[in-house]
Amino acid sequence: MFKFLASSAILLISGISAVKDVPKDFAFGAGTSAFQIEGAWKDDGKGVSIWDTFLHNKNAKENGDIACDSYHKWKEDVANVKALGLEFYRFSIAWTRIMPNGTLNQINKKGIEYYMNLIKGLKDEGIEPMVTIYHWDMPEYIQQLGGFLNPQFVDYFADFARLLFQQFAPYVKYWFTFNEPSMVCVGGYELGSLAPGLQLHGEGVYQCSYVLLKAHARAYRIYEQEFKAKYNGQVGLVINFDWAEPVTKSAQDLEAQRRHIEFALGWWANPIFLGNWPPLMIDRIANRSKMEGFVKSRLPAFTSEEIKDINGTHDFFALNTYSVSQVKYEPEPAIGQPSYNSDKGVDLVLNDSYYYPQGLRTSVNYINKKYQPKAIMITENGKLTSDGLDDQDRINTIRDFINNLVDAKVKDNVNITAYSLWSLMDNFEWGSYEKKFGVIRVDFDSPNRTRTWKKSAKWYQNMIVTRKLDI
Ligand code: NOJ
Repeated sequence: MFKFLASSAILLISGISAVKDVPKDFAFGAGTSAFQIEGAWKDDGKGVSIWDTFLHNKNAKENGDIACDSYHKWKEDVANVKALGLEFYRFSIAWTRIMPNGTLNQINKKGIEYYMNLIKGLKDEGIEPMVTIYHWDMPEYIQQLGGFLNPQFVDYFADFARLLFQQFAPYVKYWFTFNEPSMVCVGGYELGSLAPGLQLHGEGVYQCSYVLLKAHARAYRIYEQEFKAKYNGQVGLVINFDWAEPVTKSAQDLEAQRRHIEFALGWWANPIFLGNWPPLMIDRIANRSKMEGFVKSRLPAFTSEEIKDINGTHDFFALNTYSVSQVKYEPEPAIGQPSYNSDKGVDLVLNDSYYYPQGLRTSVNYINKKYQPKAIMITENGKLTSDGLDDQDRINTIRDFINNLVDAKVKDNVNITAYSLWSLMDNFEWGSYEKKFGVIRVDFDSPNRTRTWKKSAKWYQNMIVTRKLDI
């Protein structure tokens, strides 16, 4: 006992480090997505997705044609997942590999075979597969019908989801309907920075969210009614949200924080966990729409049937989170061209030198209290770096985030069940191979796409085995 106290004291005095236990019922994994790693963009009957078109039309220097070549190298990926000691692997299914034009009138057996091999390969190694149904690569044909602006999207997505459940539900217990819906709608229909690259200021973004949430709910209900009794899996939506602290405690900055939370998190979580959009969003968008001369609010109203149907479509809360920033009040933006940003009317201060990982603990506590999910899964967390194999910066960041999650779990009693690191390997970061998130380096100059472990891979592996965090 004395020895233990003495060594702790030495650690504290020297300020070097301390060691924290990581609970065993906290599963660790890593994630990827189809477009970012698979390549083989037209092999074996695959159809064209909006990301193929978006990048090819721009003649982008870098695209997803080959990426990490995981379509051919999936066995090596599984071997790496195994060697890292991961308990699960989160990946997505390319809709166009299974249904080349996105509809049931063409089903591509080779595509089904590819994912079946991957899933069984993981299961054989004792690794839990976790599947994202939609990670941004919509079939081009469905986009031409309007994509998320066409209410029929719900039916097409339902067909796709049901087919996946029919094929893979015996092996897959965790399903994510959509990945990061606000990126999909803001990036794809407001800013135009992501495929399909539309800039429909202030309207498309909400139309997109309305259709997307209905599609999510439909897929959830399909699983619930047709598969749950037999397979007992879980389904949820992956929401991206970064906590923001107010720059001061002034009433105005606190109001800015509230708006940030509602427009980023409540937008998706309220309909699913509480029913309907956040009241603050409904009011602000209605007022601004009126001032701009719109007859109706740019935010579509749910019918009471829709509210009922969407409410409760969650088996867990899946959170993607990367940073903690600051937010400050901004005077009401002038009425000009309608935009999603002026609806919010807050200023998110993106300041690279602001480092406050404790904000993640606050964030999960907030989610837990407000939405009372059965469990919280961190489906993405990681660090963007440009360094090579010696990525100490990545280690420090993820260590600090995990440390705060352990505190939230152990000290605050928040039921966090899983942590999925983004990403298993460097991949196509939606426009660039320079932005690196992987714990495994991929050499994009070698035809073989050679994989090499970074320092962070060894660190993660060690943390998982020892269940100790050196803080
Ligand atoms: C968000 C997305 O889900 C993923 O595709 C992306 O690569 C990472 N986070 C990093 O930006």
